[in-house]
Amino acid sequence: MVPRRRHTGHRAAIVLMLAVAGIAFGAGVRAADGVPLPALVKAIRGAACVEPLPVIRREHMTFLMHQRDDTVHEGIRTTRHSLAGCIDCHAAKDAAGQWVRIDAPGQFCASCHAYVSVKIDCFGCHAAVPAVAFGEGAE
Ligand code: HEC
Ligand code: HEC
Ligand code: HEC
Repeated sequence: MVPRRRHTGHRAAIVLMLAVAGIAFGAGVRAADGVPLPALVKAIRGAACVEPLPVIRREHMTFLMHQRDDTVHEGIRTTRHSLAGCIDCHAAKDAAGQWVRIDAPGQFCASCHAYVSVKIDCFGCHAAVPAVAFGEGAE
């Protein structure tokens, strides 16, 4: 028996699937094959994302890693692709008005990652809810 090779093209397939499915996410509809896609929590701030939607959907992991390398290794601190920024715009509150962790089931990052079976460990160290400053409760 020849051992089978399973890995070829797997990641590329996920990204391609997301690129296609992303269009459906935005519209809140089902994929052409009828598979229900996750209903993403709506951003609470900002008229637009930090990148055009097809770009952020496909490449946010790369931006976050570059942002981390720049900050941690080179001491550069910009905010465009900041992880804290993602949380500030994409976190949500529960019915009692309390912030819900963005990595909790059904929340923005988690619903999409569950769909594509991606696990991230970022929130063991990074805050999973917005850093609440002034203006909280004023909305
Ligand atoms: C072991 C702890 C730890 C883990 C796990 C971790 N980070 Fe960080 N991260 C840090 C520290 C410490 C800094 C530098 C302090 C700061 O800027 O808040 C940092 C900074 C960053 C920054 C730049 C600051 C910002 O808010 O944008 C980004 C982006 C980032 N990390 C992304 C990630 C991502 C994405 C993951 C998961 C894949 C991750 N980190 C996992 C500890 C961690
Ligand atoms: C200024 C607020 C803001 C910031 C900061 C922000 N986003 Fe967004 N993002 C949005 C808005 C608005 C949309 C459009 C969809 C919506 O309204 O929920 C969006 C859409 C997205 C989408 C596409 C969702 C879909 O419908 O398929 C992804 C993925 C995403 N953002 C990830 C991120 C990540 C990762 C970060 C941090 C690097 C980030 N965003 C930072 C506001 C923001
Ligand atoms: C529209 C769907 C979608 C949303 C929303 C989303 N992601 Fe992702 N994310 C993905 C996909 C798909 C991958 C895997 C891509 C791959 O395997 O190369 C991924 C991978 C990642 C990775 C790299 C994981 C690894 O180990 O390689 C990080 C870090 C990440 N996402 C962070 C975030 C954060 C933080 C948020 C919320 C602010 C978020 N993502 C929201 C679809 C999404």
